[in-house]
This record gives sequence, C-alpha cells and structure tokens, in this order.
Amino acid sequence: MSRKIVVTSALPYANGAIHIGHLVEYLQTDIWVRFQKLAGNECMYFCADDTHGTPVMIRARAEGITPEELINRVHSEHLGDFTGFGIEFNNYYSTHSEENRLFSEQLYKHAVDNDSISKRDIEQAFCESCDMWLPDRYIRGICPRCKAEDQYGDSCDMCSGTHQPTELIDPKCANCGASPVRKKSTHLFFKLADYGDRLKELIKNGYVQTSVMNKLDEWFSSGLRDWDISRDGPYFGFKIPGEENKFFYVWLDAPIGYMASCKNYCDKNGLDFETLWNSEEYELYHFIGKDIMYFHALFWPAMLISAKMKTANKLFVHGFLTVNGQKMSKSKGTFIKAATYLKHLDPEYLRYYYLSKLTGGVEDIDLSFEDFTAKINSDLVGKLANMASRSGPMLTKKLGAMLGKLDDEGRELIGKLQAAKESIMADFESLNYASASRQISGLADICNKYIDQKQPWTTIKTDEETTRTTLTVVINAVKILTIYLKAALPGYAEKIEQFLGVEPLTFADVETVLEDRKINKFVRLVERVDKEKVEAMVEESKEDIGVPQAEENQVEEVKLDEPLEPECTIEDVMKVDLRVAKVVSAELVEGANKLLHLELDLGALKKSVFAGIRKAYKPEDLVGKTVICVANLKPRQMKFGLSEGMILAAGPGGEEVFMLGIDEGAKPGMRVH
Ligand code: MSP
Ligand code: ZN
Repeated sequence: MSRKIVVTSALPYANGAIHIGHLVEYLQTDIWVRFQKLAGNECMYFCADDTHGTPVMIRARAEGITPEELINRVHSEHLGDFTGFGIEFNNYYSTHSEENRLFSEQLYKHAVDNDSISKRDIEQAFCESCDMWLPDRYIRGICPRCKAEDQYGDSCDMCSGTHQPTELIDPKCANCGASPVRKKSTHLFFKLADYGDRLKELIKNGYVQTSVMNKLDEWFSSGLRDWDISRDGPYFGFKIPGEENKFFYVWLDAPIGYMASCKNYCDKNGLDFETLWNSEEYELYHFIGKDIMYFHALFWPAMLISAKMKTANKLFVHGFLTVNGQKMSKSKGTFIKAATYLKHLDPEYLRYYYLSKLTGGVEDIDLSFEDFTAKINSDLVGKLANMASRSGPMLTKKLGAMLGKLDDEGRELIGKLQAAKESIMADFESLNYASASRQISGLADICNKYIDQKQPWTTIKTDEETTRTTLTVVINAVKILTIYLKAALPGYAEKIEQFLGVEPLTFADVETVLEDRKINKFVRLVERVDKEKVEAMVEESKEDIGVPQAEENQVEEVKLDEPLEPECTIEDVMKVDLRVAKVVSAELVEGANKLLHLELDLGALKKSVFAGIRKAYKPEDLVGKTVICVANLKPRQMKFGLSEGMILAAGPGGEEVFMLGIDEGAKPGMRVH
C-alpha cells in the first residue's frame, strides 16, 4: 500500500537571503520527499516565503521600496536559490496572499468563538527614533535566565529559554541601538493554557522526537502563557477583523501559510484541499529547526485544535549548522549565502555532505571545509563515481557498449547490494541519512574491491568476454547504488540514467538486472572539490571588518583629471538610495586622524557614519548642516564602530574635500533623485 504524504519546511523570512544554514532544513526535507517518491509513495512538498512583520518593513524602508516590492523580489531570489540546489517544491508560495488572509481570519474567528481570545492592555517597547513598535526579535539585551549578552527579546540562543521582551536586561533597539520606551496599548491574546491537556496528549502520542519531548516538558511545567497575537500599526501584515489599526502578529499567519500554499496548489491543479490537508487519507509532516519548536509544538497545534482541524502526524526538528565548529560568521566568511555557494561549487557536494551528516536528531551539525573536501573527494568522487568511470568508458570504447550477463560471483555481489535495500530505506525513512550514507559507501568499498580483484584493465587485453562480465557486474552495482543515492543526488542520478539508457530509476528497480543491452556514452559525473574554489567562496562571503588603515580612507584620493570609471546603467545608479540627512552631531574619533563620527537624521532612520573628512571640516561647523547620504550602503564594521552609510563629498582629499549639501528646506529622509 503506498502512502500519501504532505510535507512542509519552515517558511524562510522574506527579509534576507537563503544561506547554507537554511539549506540544512530544505535539503533534509527535499531528500526525504524525493525518497518517499522513489519508494513509490505520493509525497507533496509545500513551502512559501514568510513575508509579514517589522523586519520586512524596516528593510523596505531602508531600500526606499514598498514591502510588496521587497517581498516580490525576495520571492524570486529565494526560489532561484532553491532551484539551484535542486529543491523541488510542489508549490512555493507567499504568506502575503488572499488564501492566507482568509485562513488567518477563519482560524482567528474560531478562536474568538471558542472564547480562546482575551484582550488586555500591555506595555510594549516602542522605538521613538525609528517611530515603530519593536518586535521581540528587534530588541536585544541580556537573557534574564542565563545572563548571556545580546539575546533576542523572545528567546535565548544560549539556554534555549523563552521570555518576554520586558524581562530582557538592558534592552536596545536592534535597528538603531536606542533604548526603547515603553508604551501602552490593547492587545489580543490566544489563551494557550486552555489547550494544555490536549497538547500534552498530542505530544504523548508521538508528535515530536523523544529528545524534543524533554524541552516541551520544561515548557509545560513552567506553565503555558497567553500568546500575544496582535500588533499595532504601522505593521506589514493582515488587519484583524473588527479591530482598529491592529494586525495579526506575523507568527499567527506564518504557519497558516503552509495551508495557504497547499490550498493555492490544489486550486491550480483541481485537487481537493480538504482531502490533502485535513483528512486522514494524507499524512502530514512539518520539518523545522530547533529554534522554532515553541511555535510548532504549542501555538500552531493549539490553533488547529481550536479550529477543529487536523494536526500534523509529526514535527521533524533538526539542529543548527555550525561551520568549522563555530556559529556562522560574516567576518570569517562562513556565513555563506546559497547564491554565493552556487557561484563557486557544485550543489550536489552540499547535498551529499549534509546527507553524510544528518542523523534525524536535534544536535547541531558541523560543516568543516576540510572534512567537506575530503568526504566529497574520497567518497563521492573516489568511491562512487569511480566505479562508473572505471567501467563505463572501457565498455563503450572497447566492448561495443554492450552489457553481457552476470556470473555467479557477480550475482552474489549484486545480491549483497540488493539485500541492503530495506535497511537503507529504513534509514531514509527515519531521517538517519548519515547511517544510509555509511551503508552506501560501505557497499561501494566492496564493489571497488571486486574491481581491484578482477582487474578489467588487464583482462581486457586478453579476454574480452570475461571483462564484459566483470563490467556488467560493476554497471549493475552502479545502478543500485545510484538508486540509493538518488534522493540526495538527483543530478548525479540523472547522468547515470542517461548513461545506462534507462527510465528514471526508483527503489523498485533495485531488483531488476541490466543484461545484454546497450549503454550510452559515458559523461563525467562529478569533479573533485577544488580547494581554491572553496577558498574563493569563503573570501567572497567575508564582509569587510578590520583593516583599520584602509578603512579610514572613506573619501578616496582622486586626481581631478582622472579618467572616468567604466560606464554604468541607470539601473545601477538607481540601486544607490540617496537621502537627505541632517547632521545631528559630529565628533572627533579618538585614534583616527582622518575620521569624523557623524550622527545623521534621515527622518524615520538615524545613522551613524564615519567619514574621512576631518582635515577639511571642524565638527562644530557641521552640526545642523543638510547633507546627502548613501542610505542603503551595507554597514561596515570599522575599528572605531559600525559605519552605516556614507555622505557625498567631492575633492582630491585632505583639506580639499567639499561635502555636497542641499537646500535647507529639504526634509531629512527625502529621496534624492
Ligand atoms: N519564518 C520563520 C519560520 C516560519 S514557519 C511557519 C523562520 N524563518 S528563518 O528564515 O529564520 O528560518 C527558516 C528555517 O531555517 C527554520 O526552520 C530555521 O530553524 C532554519 N534555519 C535557519 N538558520 C539555520 C541554521 N544556521 N542551521 C540550521 N537551520 C537553520 O524561522
Ligand atoms: Zn530604533
């Protein structure tokens, strides 16, 4: 009996690029989905961009575009990254959709009807300099529990504890660094505690891995708190029906986005959403990272229970990616974006590497570049692809590309490979990909030993038919191992299928044998990892930090008669977001003889900028002046602090630098065209 399965991955935020940390999740899920399909099951994979909330608003403001423009652009960037890594969704949708608005309103209405919503006034952080309410993740401070510094307002990375932003010690606006003020307003709460017993029941029945259960027990015993589901405007999200200037908190509509993506797919393909999403006919699984367990193990099922809807069969929770044993870091160049990776390396390397690392547990996994290079070169290239390249070209060049028959010894070897099918499939099913990959590479070892023993490169000189038999055995072994690897390496598998001249392989083909048939020309399968390319990728991922001497030269020394820079298009120019800015304060920078530290007022934003104009201007002459600021320049960490923008100036340098000003009537924040 084949199964019917619906799968989701967490919806990535629409305010940033996909990076190799995210890919742990999307690759883990994609491999599982592909595995299910290869095993003969129906399996559908839904995802979407998580588009609402303050970060998207802030980012759009900084870029001078609307949130809608931002999320549309990011959507196609994300989809491009996923496609580049061979991640195949049935639908990659958006939480900013009509389906999602409707479902969000419906689930909310159910909660209201069940008396699961309460109203009360709360005090909340408001940043006066940014003129906005600060979401939990935009407040940084010291964790009230373990006292770790620089933690989010809702949870702590160090102790995994959750807390209220009000409990954070010494809170700061993560956007501008100002200390937020506290303001009162009425908020809506979901009464989570009312669902405590039913949630406990759900979890007892296997909703999460056992290792996750302990964490949940902690949460249960510390008591379930009401959940604030509303935010005051201005907020990018869905308006709450019947309320004035209130919006659903992004985490209310985000998981509903899973449903919206599925619904949108069903409507486009003439399928019945109720059957796919809400019936016992389909199993449902959510893949998530350990940081968002609270939402998926408590809030989300509680909302579904309230709406009398089905909850998922299970959450699959994975750990976080570390690189070379440490948290991904922008300065070390280990915060690698999917797009940057794709410029330098084959996506199947990472698919194979994560396969070899993922165990189905919640432990963090480490990507060490040395281990990565060694594993790809020794396992994937040296063992697996090697089997094909030691047999394919010889068959096509010397033996008319014709396979022969297996002999007894060959049948025994192939039998061994076939016998491993059940346990390899069990590994995939339970997400223990590391174990599957160990089994597969163990089988490849046996095959390579067989080749070494048979020495086809020697026998070909004297005995073509014996050689043909040997190579037929190897080709059949290649076929089986390809099936075992296909969920992880779809591109590699496709090349092998092409070469063998077979229809797309599935687990059902493990038992069939290829004999007395023609194969096609051999194509190179996978290249060795080039260390220099790994280094180039890391280099490109490094974000300027340090090198204080060079960094001080913010205004380049240009000769007036210098030739023009290469031509650029109007689109290039439009990328630069120039804003009117008022100099709020200007100070000398201790230890720097060229820099001034300026605080700029850009209307909704304040920026702190280090400018190399000390020789040309006295700080006190600048205060109150209106200047032009490159507002969307990527912030740079300098020795003296973070520089968040650049002011426009002209001149050869030194004392001859002239800041470009603007009419005093222009309001700070206005865009310069
Ligand atoms: N938008 C929310 C999820 C909403 S689901 C209804 C979110 N987005 S995210 O972009 O921050 O993360 C998306 C997924 O990627 C999460 O499951 C998260 O755990 C995972 N990862 C993000 N960074 C990661 C690593 N460094 N390592 C492993 N997984 C990571 O959370
Ligand atoms: Zn602020």
